[in-house]
Amino acid sequence: MTKTVWPPIIQGGMGVAVSTWTLARAVSQAGQIGVVSGTGIDTVLVRRLQDGDPGGHVRRALAASPWPDLVNALLKRFYRDQGRHSGQPYTRLPLWTIDSSRWRTSFALLGGFVEVWLAKAEHRGLVGINLLTKVALPNLAVLYGAMQAGVDIVLMGAGIPREIPGALDNLARHEPARIRCDVIGIPSSESPWIQFNPDDFDSSSTSSLKRPAFFPIISGNSLATMMDKKANGSIEGFVVEGPTAGGHNAPPRGPKHYDALGQPLYTARDEVDWNALGKMGYPFWMAGGLGSRNGLKEAQEHGATGIQVGTLFAYCQESGLSPHLKTAVLNRLRTGPVGVRTDPLASPTGFPFKVVDVPNTLSDASAYAARTRICDLGYLREAFRDPNGQVKFRCASEPVSHYVKKGGQLDDTLGRKCLCNGLMAAAGFPQIQRAEEELPIVTSGDALDEIRPLLPPADSLYCAQDVINYLTS
Ligand SMILES: Cc1cc2nc3c(=O)[nH]c(=O)nc-3n(C[C@H](O)[C@H](O)[C@H](O)COP(=O)(O)O)c2cc1C
Repeated sequence: MTKTVWPPIIQGGMGVAVSTWTLARAVSQAGQIGVVSGTGIDTVLVRRLQDGDPGGHVRRALAASPWPDLVNALLKRFYRDQGRHSGQPYTRLPLWTIDSSRWRTSFALLGGFVEVWLAKAEHRGLVGINLLTKVALPNLAVLYGAMQAGVDIVLMGAGIPREIPGALDNLARHEPARIRCDVIGIPSSESPWIQFNPDDFDSSSTSSLKRPAFFPIISGNSLATMMDKKANGSIEGFVVEGPTAGGHNAPPRGPKHYDALGQPLYTARDEVDWNALGKMGYPFWMAGGLGSRNGLKEAQEHGATGIQVGTLFAYCQESGLSPHLKTAVLNRLRTGPVGVRTDPLASPTGFPFKVVDVPNTLSDASAYAARTRICDLGYLREAFRDPNGQVKFRCASEPVSHYVKKGGQLDDTLGRKCLCNGLMAAAGFPQIQRAEEELPIVTSGDALDEIRPLLPPADSLYCAQDVINYLTS
């Protein structure tokens, strides 16, 4: 069997909608691995349509989908030719449940399809999709949509995606797939199944789909070993992400200690044994703080195939981060360092989350305090068993009284931010809640300063090709 020769650079999957199809396509066309984010992609899809689908890209992709009936229903319900009136809130989708309806599920299916189809259009480069294991409910539908569009690689972190390889095998044959839904109060061996049956969607395509390669995103050797031994299907590589990477980080192992700024401290226990990892025989990419001139060389010296880079790509022209946020951060970088804090509380998941210090965003303590708590997207909710034995959902960032009423601990709500609304706003889709518009939250890796060598003249942007040239120079 011929061994796949993989490119050395993976452009990190950055949700929500920072790794859009435009970014993944540019990276993929440049010969590296472009990755779209599938997180919240159903909401991104319906918000793009409500904004009038500028350029007609979404409708172009939808026209190529194998589900014309779903597309008609979607457009009828959400497409607004003239976009929204000023101040008009987005119509939002119902929150996910374990057995969401076919109608609700269809938006995730179509969202995954559209993003990958556009990223892959008119070239032959590699395109991956990134999903968070924790956001379990939409994932099978997003994956099947992405596979119908020919996705080459699936990358998943933030959890242990043990059942995903088998699900990919099934979906490639258009067979039903299922993964467990973790529920607090129910032993994992008895937790309910999240199911997806391709037959429910009457796809016109019947021949087998390409089974994408699967790269779990891991933070250490034990998870690599567990995936190697216990996954229910094949794994084709690993991304090994360290605690300096943007977005969510794995919590430190062992007792928790914090620095003077309240950031979690990582110790030798969190270091990866590269030698042992290399001996497992999988290709792997190192992620976190390697977006520099020497990063690729350093990684390859550790035996890696290459690097996964997020932060440098997040601020380039093709990324989906709102232009005003890119400009704000790049302009501040021109005059000095920009703070990035590893916030142990910000994410309702309890995982540390990196927050960039940007005025008029949720990094600002007074702006955070002024926000009225609401949970109307709900991707990061946790499932729990209520006293009547029913599976319900709660989020540590929702209104405190609601969370506590559902059995959550008051302490767990302290400092929690609504990442769903904050990240949606950062990607240019802020919800309007009563009178106030949701403020963005910006995340990046610790090595944000590494962008400096790429900085173009004031108020202009560098592009994805510049990042690749820099990393491979
Ligand atoms: C804006 C941003 C959002 C991110 N979102 C995700 C995500 O949704 N899923 C994920 O697996 N990793 C996410 N990451 C991590 C990247 O995929 C990548 O591993 C990381 O950025 C690499 O480290 P670097 O930021 O130092 O380049 C995000 C990173 C950034 C900068």
